[in-house]
Amino acid sequence: MIEKIKHLKQKHNVLIAAHFYQRDEIVEITDLSGDSLELSQKASCATNPIILFCGVGFMGQSVKILSPNKRVFMPKIACCSMARMIDDSYFDKSVELLRSYGISDFFPITYINSNAEVKAKVADFGGVVCTSSNASKIMDYALKQNKKIFFLPDRCLGENLAAQNGLKSAVLGLDTKEAVQNADIICYNGFCSVHQLFSVQDIEFFRAKYKDILIVVHPECPKEVVKKADFVGSTSQIIKFVQSLKPEQKVAVGTEFNLVNRLRAPYNGEQNTFVLSSTKPECPTMNETTLQDVLNLLEALEKGEPYNEILLDVKVALKAKRALEKMMELS
Ligand code: 13P
Ligand code: SF4
Repeated sequence: MIEKIKHLKQKHNVLIAAHFYQRDEIVEITDLSGDSLELSQKASCATNPIILFCGVGFMGQSVKILSPNKRVFMPKIACCSMARMIDDSYFDKSVELLRSYGISDFFPITYINSNAEVKAKVADFGGVVCTSSNASKIMDYALKQNKKIFFLPDRCLGENLAAQNGLKSAVLGLDTKEAVQNADIICYNGFCSVHQLFSVQDIEFFRAKYKDILIVVHPECPKEVVKKADFVGSTSQIIKFVQSLKPEQKVAVGTEFNLVNRLRAPYNGEQNTFVLSSTKPECPTMNETTLQDVLNLLEALEKGEPYNEILLDVKVALKAKRALEKMMELS
């Protein structure tokens, strides 16, 4: 199967891009892997006219938005459950609620885990996109606008950025009107179900079991967890950090299982890298794509009948591009 994939992708000049959360079988055949920022930057700069994107929908959309002349296909149109927690109508309802609280002048930031329509809305309000790897830089820029910040859709990332900057945060629709009015960063009530699995109890368990163990987490984890971690970063930053450690250094990592499982080989037969949870933290939609799906799509391309192409409304894509390009400029 791998030989067929290699042959077809070469014949049609296809670049296969995959997020780090993909199954091992996908990561092994990919031409390009990375975190959300790297994937959107590198895949859109590639010279290949066709991208076969293994990941979730917002990632494939980001590549299409940044390079509209490329054809972007996904073997499975898998959806990030967090990105599905907001659409343009929920964005409008949130704006109405903010206005009813007397907040009409705000600076919106959308996490890249959101669809093109939401990014376009954010662009309409003069806002910007961020990813987990550049969120601090984007927040620094946003804070200079001297407005309240509306951060969407991940309340955890928003709360973590507020804590990092010593600012007040509140969650719209969850916290009181007064709390929202007093907050510097107002967060939309979205979250990642996978990163909700990591808890302070997990950290305490590992610290009690292994003296000197390091705790490394993704910023989509709850604020109590992030506060207690030794290192917080995007998937790419986590990989670099863990792989730079001495092999005997034990580490417990709070992010998706496939990534953690591939991080390091045991040292002297002893496990040195742990998943920071007693429950397997699998992203179900990231795991949907299989090698067979990749081959099926390449064979369909060969027959001239490809499917699952990312197609976007031109006006929406142009607006979303503004918010994404602003992010690129700032990061
Ligand atoms: P990264 O940008 O860090 O790869 O994160 C994407 C994501 O969906 C994490 O759950
Ligand atoms: Fe979305 Fe969470 Fe899966 Fe990342 S791990 S793609 S945020 S559902």
